[in-house]
Amino acid sequence: MHPLPDIYNTTSLPTTCNKNLSLLIFSIFLTLMAKLFHFLLLLFIQTITAQVAPAPAGPTNITQVLEKAGQFTTFIKLLKATQIADRLNSQLNNSNQGLTVFAPTDNAFSSLKAGTLNSINSQDQMQLVQFHILPTLYTISQFQTASNPLHTQAGNSDDGEYPLNVTTSGNQVNVSTGVVNAPVSNTIFSDNQLAVYQVDKVLLPMALFGSTAPAAAPAEAPAPTKPEKNVRAGEADSPSGSSDSSVDASSAVSLKRKTVEVVTFVAAGIAVSCF
Ligand SMILES: *[C@@H]1O[C@H](CO)[C@@H](O)[C@H](O)[C@H]1NC(C)=O
Ligand SMILES: *[C@@H]1O[C@H](CO)[C@@H](O)[C@H](O)[C@H]1NC(C)=O
Ligand SMILES: *[C@@H]1O[C@H](CO)[C@@H](O)[C@H](O)[C@H]1NC(C)=O
Ligand SMILES: *[C@@H]1O[C@H](CO)[C@@H](O)[C@H](O)[C@H]1NC(C)=O
Repeated sequence: MHPLPDIYNTTSLPTTCNKNLSLLIFSIFLTLMAKLFHFLLLLFIQTITAQVAPAPAGPTNITQVLEKAGQFTTFIKLLKATQIADRLNSQLNNSNQGLTVFAPTDNAFSSLKAGTLNSINSQDQMQLVQFHILPTLYTISQFQTASNPLHTQAGNSDDGEYPLNVTTSGNQVNVSTGVVNAPVSNTIFSDNQLAVYQVDKVLLPMALFGSTAPAAAPAEAPAPTKPEKNVRAGEADSPSGSSDSSVDASSAVSLKRKTVEVVTFVAAGIAVSCF
C-alpha cells in the first residue's frame, strides 16, 4: 500500500522509518529540483544579459571604436583633422559594403623617422590616412582569398594608384605596401559592417614614400614596440577575460554552496526521521 515505487521498500533501513523516509526523500527531491530550477534560471538570465549588453546603439562610430581601444590617439587626430572620421561614419551609416580599417598604434607613429608626416602636404596626409582604409569589409578569413592588390580609399577609387597587398598564413595576415610590411597584430573591432585591425607600423604608400627609402626607421621599430605590445595585449584581453571567468567562478562557487546546502539538508532529514 505504499504510494511510492518498491525501490524505496527494499532499503535495509528499519521499517519504522521507511514510510517517513520515502516521503522525506520525495520532499527533498522537490526542494532540490526547485532550488536547481531557481539556480539555472538565474544563470540563464545572467548569460542572456551578458550577451545582450555589448550591443551598440545606433550606427557604428569609428572614433568611438578607436577611443575605446586606446593607443590610437595619433590616428584619431589624423582622422579628425582630415575629416575622414566624419566621412567614414556616414559611410558606415549609409552603405552596406562595409569598411576595413588598418589602425596604426601611437607607437607606430612615434617610430616613424622624424618629420615623416611633415614631409608631405596636407593633401598627401589625407591620402596616407585613406590608404589605411579599404572600402570593403574583410574578415580575417576573407583576406585568405582576397586577390592582390587590394583597393584602398586613397587616390581615385579604381586607378590602383595606392595598392596594398596582403599575404596570409592561417590566421596571420601581413599587409605590405612595397615600402613596409606589417603584420595585423590584433582585431580591435569586427561586426558585419566594419573591421578594425591593429597594425604596429604606419602603412607608407609606395606613391608617397617609394623613393625616399624611410625603411630604416620602421625596421628598428620592433624592438621598443614588442614589450609594450604584449602589455597592451594583456590589458586588452583582461576585461572580457576576467569578467567571463568571474561569472564562471561565482557560478561555480554558488553551485558548490548549493550542493553543500542540499547534502546537509538530506543528512539532517534522514537523521531526524530515523531517530
Ligand atoms: C563619434 O564619436 C565622437 C566622440 O567619440 C563624436 O565626437 C562624434 O560626434 C561621433 N559621430 C557620430 C556620427 O556619432
Ligand atoms: C543615419 O542615416 C539615416 C538615414 O539614412 C539618418 O536619418 C540618420 O540621422 C543617420 N544617423 C547618423 C548618426 O548619422
Ligand atoms: C609576415 O611578415 C613577417 C615579417 O615581418 C614574416 O616573418 C612572416 O612570415 C610573414 N607572414 C606572412 C603570412 O606573410
Ligand atoms: C602586390 O601583388 C601584385 C599581384 O600579385 C604584384 O604584382 C605586386 O608586385 C605586389 N606588390 C607588392 C608591393 O608586393
